Amino acid sequence: MRSLFPVTDQTPAGGPEAASAPALTGVPDRAPAPTADRAPAPTADRAPAPTADRAPAPTADRAPAPADDREWSLDELADWYAYPETDRPVLRANMVSTLDGAAMHEGRSQPISCPADMRIFGTLRGLADAVVVGAETVRQEEYRPARARDAFAGRRAAAGQGPAPAIAVISASLDLDFSLPLFTEPLVPTLVLTGAAASAERREAAEKAGARVLIAGEGRGVEPGRVVAALAGQGLKRLLTEGGPTLLGQFVAADVLDELCLTVSPMLAAGDARRIAGGPRMTLPERFALASVLEEDGFLFTRYRRP
Ligand SMILES: NC(=O)c1ccc[n+]([C@@H]2O[C@H](COP(=O)([O-])OP(=O)(O)OC[C@H]3O[C@@H](n4cnc5c(N)ncnc54)[C@H](OP(=O)(O)O)[C@@H]3O)[C@@H](O)[C@H]2O)c1
Repeated sequence: MRSLFPVTDQTPAGGPEAASAPALTGVPDRAPAPTADRAPAPTADRAPAPTADRAPAPTADRAPAPADDREWSLDELADWYAYPETDRPVLRANMVSTLDGAAMHEGRSQPISCPADMRIFGTLRGLADAVVVGAETVRQEEYRPARARDAFAGRRAAAGQGPAPAIAVISASLDLDFSLPLFTEPLVPTLVLTGAAASAERREAAEKAGARVLIAGEGRGVEPGRVVAALAGQGLKRLLTEGGPTLLGQFVAADVLDELCLTVSPMLAAGDARRIAGGPRMTLPERFALASVLEEDGFLFTRYRRP
């Protein structure tokens, strides 16, 4: 893995084009089948009026020094992806997309992911206070509790974080299996965010299972603009959303997304798979600023922020 942007001492002379050339050596004509599962590991563990404090300082100075293309340690990745030092909540999204915009293949993101993507996925989790996810992704990707990982333990303790991020599930129907480990066996209680008019019976079932229910809307559903404040009210300010597209689209439309960590997978999927963000379109497309690009094995790990 290496940084293509910002240009660092890791970026070979000749710029990004030269940098990517060696990585293509030996890569077959067709993308190899990915071997990692982007879904959480069984035991585990993406505007108008931008404001200056929403644009954290670049982290290029934290780039690992060696100029060779090698696997970055989790510690190096954690430095690279560190949340900005600010008191206000930050909502970051992590999504993967094929070259032609598919956010999934046959209903899952795993087929378009890769091992390096999974390392970054795990690192972003390792840095977060809470992982915010739509109920459909929980159901389809069979979410389990986030796990505590040694690689991030010291960093989390120093930042005053619990051993693992809380999973915060967004649901209106509360049609979730509350007997699953996600609700019964997490290291830190799983949160369920729903609306005030959601089923009282289902809310009770969630609480009985050990989940904490937060109300963030007046109807059955959650008002996306209230999610960040509801979680910040629980002391959870370093927020990571893992989608899916329905939820991410609402965060974009509500103008609450600060950062998008987008993995560009070197694959073409065609078909009718959805994009990383759905829902009603913005009146005007909103522009984000490129903050960094890592590359490994033809995959691009981009990060964009509010300007
Ligand atoms: N490419 C990637 O990086 C990536 C990332 C994540 C997921 N995915 C893929 O995306 C697919 C799932 O995404 P999706 O868009 O269908 O679903 P999703 O966004 O994960 O979840 C949608 C569900 O979340 C709940 N929800 C959303 N907005 C809500 C609101 N305002 N208030 C209350 N509840 C709300 C509803 O749950 P209830 O029905 O319970 O009310 C809704 O059905 C899967 O195939 C998954 O593999 C891809």
